Amino acid sequence: MTHLTPHCYRAKPHIATVRRVRLVPYTNADLPLTAALESDPAVMGQLGGPVSAEGIAETHAHRLAGMAGGDRYYRIVADTGEDAGIVGLWATQWAGSTIHEAGLMLLPPFQGKGMAYRGMAALFDVTRDEGRVSEIHVFPAVTNAASNAVARQLGFTPLGEHDLDYSGRPLRCRHWVIRLT
Ligand SMILES: CC(C)(COP(=O)(O)OP(=O)(O)OC[C@H]1O[C@@H](n2cnc3c(N)ncnc32)[C@H](O)[C@@H]1OP(=O)(O)O)[C@@H](O)C(=O)NCCC(=O)NCCS
Repeated sequence: MTHLTPHCYRAKPHIATVRRVRLVPYTNADLPLTAALESDPAVMGQLGGPVSAEGIAETHAHRLAGMAGGDRYYRIVADTGEDAGIVGLWATQWAGSTIHEAGLMLLPPFQGKGMAYRGMAALFDVTRDEGRVSEIHVFPAVTNAASNAVARQLGFTPLGEHDLDYSGRPLRCRHWVIRLT
């Protein structure tokens, strides 16, 4: 059995500047990274709060199963070689249609350095290369100023606000969409 080690990523040194990121497909070995992210109150503050060990295991299994069905999750690797977070793109139902929603989480030492912008831009690149998905949606909490700023900077168009359910917890979110060209 793999043990959850939520704090192992925090011991790594802080980096001063992030110039680029690399995306590596998510695997079973990335459970500790998911645990470090999902158990951290600072990371989960705008996502309904930290998740239990059971919830983390479910999220990990859900990601692996989703990848087998066409969803995409990637480990975000900083230019120092350190794991910085996770970015994903998954199919979901919205207003009676299937859409593709993206989400991104960074460990605290990697926040505030413009890394979300680079991680999402890298997701756009790999998604364009794959050629299956032409439109990406994001639903950050309306109170998540950094996420909404990143969506605006990347060229997403705001479509409106909605009360959504995030893993069983209510969250007021802003809906953004971008067409990959
Ligand atoms: C939210 C998150 C994705 C943002 O990524 P980041 O790379 O740390 O973003 P940054 O702090 O570099 O900020 C990005 C932009 O938002 C702006 N911003 C940050 N906080 C802000 C605030 N409170 N008000 C207004 N703008 C803000 C920054 O100034 C920056 O814009 P700039 O490049 O013009 O200066 C990241 O911090 C994270 O993973 N948080 C935890 C998980 C999460 O909430 N994920 C989002 C789910 S939708």
